[in-house]
Amino acid sequence: MASEKQRETRRAEPLETFEVVFPQDLNPMHTMFGGAVVALMDKAAGIVVSRWARRPAVTASIDAIQFLTPLRQGQMVQISAHVVYVGKSSCMARVQVWGNDISSGDRHFCCEGYFTMVTMDANFRPVGLPLIPVESDEEKTQWEYARQIKQAMLERRDRARRMEEE
Ligand SMILES: CC(C)(COP(=O)(O)OP(=O)(O)OC[C@H]1O[C@@H](n2cnc3c(N)ncnc32)[C@H](O)[C@@H]1OP(=O)(O)O)[C@@H](O)C(=O)NCCC(=O)NCCS
Repeated sequence: MASEKQRETRRAEPLETFEVVFPQDLNPMHTMFGGAVVALMDKAAGIVVSRWARRPAVTASIDAIQFLTPLRQGQMVQISAHVVYVGKSSCMARVQVWGNDISSGDRHFCCEGYFTMVTMDANFRPVGLPLIPVESDEEKTQWEYARQIKQAMLERRDRARRMEEE
């Protein structure tokens, strides 16, 4: 991997996508199944990272997601993804989701999640990433927030590994 001095700094284009809630996405309460929302978020995280890193990325972990409002059949699902933190071979994407009512144009916030993605080479080995510019107060805040999540994720991973060994 490149040393810190040699590392390229490359701006990551944010991703903004829309989906529609179809009948097959619903739970028995007729709102969108949480797992289907997470799948869309995970896909957005993979795309925003791979586009920036120019490599495939796998999901290493997902921070807790709070579903604040439901998404209903026929609503537009707006998904926004940003790369907010970069380690060596891992980085974190912040993914936010809104429901958009097509007829009224009203928008409501559904949830957000932080996805740790690891970029891989052709032999499935983690590979080094460029850096992102961190300039604005918001970028600095997000970087620090994501860095803390990453630490917590690694502690949980180590706990899971210990459980696996027992
Ligand atoms: C994610 C994975 C590639 C990490 O492999 P590994 O051998 O542990 O690799 P490393 O220890 O070198 O970790 C690579 C990077 O990922 C980070 N990382 C690994 N597991 C992590 C986790 N659970 N949460 C957050 N970060 C994690 C490491 O801190 C390291 O970061 P850095 O390079 O920025 O410092 C591996 O565990 C894997 O393949 N998991 C399955 C991924 C997958 O298939 N996801 C789809 C859903 S099943």
